[in-house]
Amino acid sequence: MQQNNVRPESMERVVTPELANAFIEEQVREIRAQVGDKKVLLALSGGVDSSVVAALLIKAIGKQLVCVHVNHGLMRKGESEQVIEVFRNGLDANLVYVDATDRFLDLLAGVADPEKKRKIIGNEFIKVFDEESGKLSGISFLAQGTIYPDILESHGVKAHHNVGGLPEDMEMELVEPLKLLYKDEVRVVGKALGLPDEMVFRQPFPGPGLGVRCLGAITRDRLHALREADAILREEFDKCGLADKVWQYFVAVPDFKSVGVRDNKRYEGWPAIVRAVNTVDAMTATIEEIPYDVLHRITDRITHEVEGINRVLLDLTPKPIGTIEWE
Ligand code: XMP
Repeated sequence: MQQNNVRPESMERVVTPELANAFIEEQVREIRAQVGDKKVLLALSGGVDSSVVAALLIKAIGKQLVCVHVNHGLMRKGESEQVIEVFRNGLDANLVYVDATDRFLDLLAGVADPEKKRKIIGNEFIKVFDEESGKLSGISFLAQGTIYPDILESHGVKAHHNVGGLPEDMEMELVEPLKLLYKDEVRVVGKALGLPDEMVFRQPFPGPGLGVRCLGAITRDRLHALREADAILREEFDKCGLADKVWQYFVAVPDFKSVGVRDNKRYEGWPAIVRAVNTVDAMTATIEEIPYDVLHRITDRITHEVEGINRVLLDLTPKPIGTIEWE
């Protein structure tokens, strides 16, 4: 068992499939030794870290792992469906799926302040997770996708504004098999466990999800437009190879409209703001230069295919002075 949180200097970097397989075998042994025949609970967001932990635990203890996926209604298009497909249908996981969309969106209605929005989302997540775990009996362990940078930078991004932080008073022993790995190693392990590339090489996605990209007070129609526009951006980045190159890219939709014309009629719509940045540690970021033909295609598709959007804008602001997210 990894008794402490310090990565030994002698620890080899897990960067090849062979080393990943060796890591997996070792962890499977350790997890079985730690857990025995008891049950383990995991909040499975579908992000890289929680997905890899889930796959590893399923390999080690199968249905003794109970995954809870809370859909807060602020996921990107297709994400919750993918979690169900990969884990329930593909890996036969014991997966509790909770569609809490209405709860979150009802609480968020009319709330424009970004910090308040974050708090509501974070607190509600804990409440839903608590309620769900309360319905289960005989859970002795809580698994978490903690990775080494989370331990090193406990004052960093994840800690200061992450959603999915779980209640500190949960009296369960932790299972954190990835806690000595860096992100690139987690991805190699995820691949070795057979998770799809889309999941393993996912770009970072903030815990509050589309909630911080549907700017100001969230409405269902604007959130829907944002989700569709974001899906088009991702599709076009996939097609032209930018998806493999750009660190993070997304659409934000502000809560104001401008005048336009569609089908010879006045058409008021929101703008979709495209942002694509590169960074090493998210503390500073530079702007990816997107070829104009790609930008034209994205603009054309978003303005034609997404109800409610009538302009596409490009955010050229590096960090600093702009943060990566708009809220
Ligand atoms: P900013 O906007 O601060 O973002 O430049 C830096 C990185 O952190 C991500 N981010 C978050 N991640 N919960 C998260 O887990 C959050 O509340 C959150 N806010 C921002 C952001 O997407 C970027 O990668």
